[in-house]
Amino acid sequence: MRNGYFITFEGGEGSGKSTQIALVRESLEQAGIPVCVTREPGGTELAEEIRGVLLEPRAEIVDVNTELLLIFAARAQHLAQCIRPALARGEWVLCDRFTDATYAYQHGGRGLDVSTIATLEQLVQAGFSPDMTLLFDAPIDITLQRMRNRGALDRFEREGRAFMEGVRATYLSRAQSEADRFRVIDATGSIEAVNAAVKEHLKRLVDRWRVS
Ligand SMILES: Nc1ncnc2c1ncn2[C@@H]1O[C@H](COP(=O)(O)OP(=O)(O)O)[C@@H](O)[C@H]1O
Ligand SMILES: [Mg+2]
Repeated sequence: MRNGYFITFEGGEGSGKSTQIALVRESLEQAGIPVCVTREPGGTELAEEIRGVLLEPRAEIVDVNTELLLIFAARAQHLAQCIRPALARGEWVLCDRFTDATYAYQHGGRGLDVSTIATLEQLVQAGFSPDMTLLFDAPIDITLQRMRNRGALDRFEREGRAFMEGVRATYLSRAQSEADRFRVIDATGSIEAVNAAVKEHLKRLVDRWRVS
């Protein structure tokens, strides 16, 4: 059986990832395509436990390497127990964040060396990467306002503006250097306008899927 496609949704908090994943799931399912929606960190029972540990605000300072190892521990589990099996079953996996987020947050936000992240990426993924990555891009002021409207902030969301600017810049530079995989979407438009852009990008994959 043909493998499904692995599509990741990236962007800062409040950029509209969850909103668009729900809409994409709906339209793919209506088109008769089997879909698996998942997220990082998380996606399996164990990986969701690690997510809880990562996101919970705490008094103790979390060492950057501790954070990075937890993220990749969750990712290894997620890949082995959820993502790869779903793709092998022919499902399209829609994943809310993946390794680009690790570069954006741990390098762009926290200043960790790219090479450290790349080492763990190689260990855990051995060259595996998404078929398509949708990057929802918007100025920080806009996403901050959406987050405030949404309610309580987690440990990452409480980071300052410089952190968020670093996250955005790293996402955009990765999109530029891997232009074949990335689709950068202007996330400042209405939910409907953003969804129209998303659908346009997915159309090619759907067409390819149909004829394969
Ligand atoms: N295009 C949009 N325009 C205005 N508000 C939006 C848009 N997309 C999402 N929102 C709202 O902004 C908030 C954050 O969206 P969400 O999809 O949860 O973002 P993310 O998952 O990227 O953090 C939610 O309250 C959502 O309803
Ligand atoms: Mg979300």
